[in-house]
Amino acid sequence: MIGSIINGKEINTSNESVDVKNPYNGETVEEIALASDDEFESAVSSAFDTFHETMKDMPAHKRSDILRKTADLMEERADDFAETIMKEAGKPIFFSRGEVQRAIQVLRFASEEAKHIAGEVIPMDAAVDGDGRLGLVKHIPLGVVAAITPFNFPLNLSLHKLAPAIAAGNTIVFKPAEKTPVSAHKLAKLFHEAGLPDGALNLLMGTGEIGEKLVAHEKIHKISFTGSLPVGRSIKESAGFKKVTLELGSNSPNIVFDDASLNEAVKLLVKGAFSFSGQVCISAQRVYVQKGIYDDFLKAYIKATEDLTIGNPASEKTDIGPMISEEEAKRAKQWIDDAVENGAKVTTGGEREGTVLKPTIMTNVESNMKIIAEEVFAPIVSVIPFDTEEEVVGYSNDSIYGLQAGVFTKDVDRAFRVADQLEMGGVWINEISTYRQDNHPYGGVKQSGVGREGVKYAVSDMTEVKFIGLKLKEQN
Ligand code: SIN
Repeated sequence: MIGSIINGKEINTSNESVDVKNPYNGETVEEIALASDDEFESAVSSAFDTFHETMKDMPAHKRSDILRKTADLMEERADDFAETIMKEAGKPIFFSRGEVQRAIQVLRFASEEAKHIAGEVIPMDAAVDGDGRLGLVKHIPLGVVAAITPFNFPLNLSLHKLAPAIAAGNTIVFKPAEKTPVSAHKLAKLFHEAGLPDGALNLLMGTGEIGEKLVAHEKIHKISFTGSLPVGRSIKESAGFKKVTLELGSNSPNIVFDDASLNEAVKLLVKGAFSFSGQVCISAQRVYVQKGIYDDFLKAYIKATEDLTIGNPASEKTDIGPMISEEEAKRAKQWIDDAVENGAKVTTGGEREGTVLKPTIMTNVESNMKIIAEEVFAPIVSVIPFDTEEEVVGYSNDSIYGLQAGVFTKDVDRAFRVADQLEMGGVWINEISTYRQDNHPYGGVKQSGVGREGVKYAVSDMTEVKFIGLKLKEQN
């Protein structure tokens, strides 16, 4: 049994525990002791006290060292982390390994960033009364950051919060997803082994209730959350004066113009729609294909999708494993059935067996169907024909979401024109919406979120601007 880690100590006994199950075969991965109310309070107090006593004055080189050492340790234990992600999330082993490599890079980026949190000298004499004054801007840590993380990238999306928080000198209360807390536990241990002071990172095992209590707690200064729109909305409404970063949902559009490289677009969009069974916020959900190549695209897309290997995530050959739970797979299947009842067509896939939903391509869809209008978070993609640039920009922007999009064309003028018109936090040209590098700004407009991650941007969002002025001489 494993449990919460509070002030550097593991609490692995509890009146209440849950089993983490492998979503593919139902095997128990680990038993988890859930945090009690008292443990919740101790975790927050420990983070609060450690901020004031240690972290806020820890020099940048030391924070940088801790992050670098954590990366080194993770590199040594990369196989174990990948196995853990594969088992608890059901993510195919090849992609689990990829996640670990990204996580190591995030730690290295954060280690560098810790040394570059620079301030500014303000030209005080630009104001009529400013002569003889010196103005300095410092970026200081916020205090206690509550990191509430999702199941889909249990290691890397946790690190997108933890590593910048530590780089900036904050302390943390970390509430990982209930379904994937085992990699989170290994990660917290690794930080301690790398020299992070006790109390700087407190891990709380439990349900969404812990998240709600963190949002309400007066000793928490910032909430950094990745997850669903309804939870994000409720956090925003309850957070009061706390800072928030919210990485929420999307129904990412990908636009394929007539002049795009068809083979490349097909190959990338199979990955873009079906990686980790579509359980990625920027998964390619709506694929708009210009009419001149629509039939050829669809034919090739169906063929490439049917070539995917579905099965046990432990196998090196598996492209598509299970969804996170049977409940989620049933929900996604229901969305397919609802669309079909309203005239949509399943061109391939559509069948469910337990937690596995076959990669599904839909056509004849309407903009008000759930598989188009809402975040599908499942291996379901819709292919939709279009005529003109103007029309497809309109379709793409017709959404409450705006996280990331993909545009495929050889015409550079058009590529940048369309990128400018898309209401998105990010646009990739000749790359899928699903592609993310961990050092570019990442976050949404509209209801896709608030704030930006991507290490440098997250670090900036985890600091406060402090002004210090000096009057150098008597003014007349
Ligand atoms: C997400 O699902 O929001 C993260 C995608 C990624 O980091 O690749």
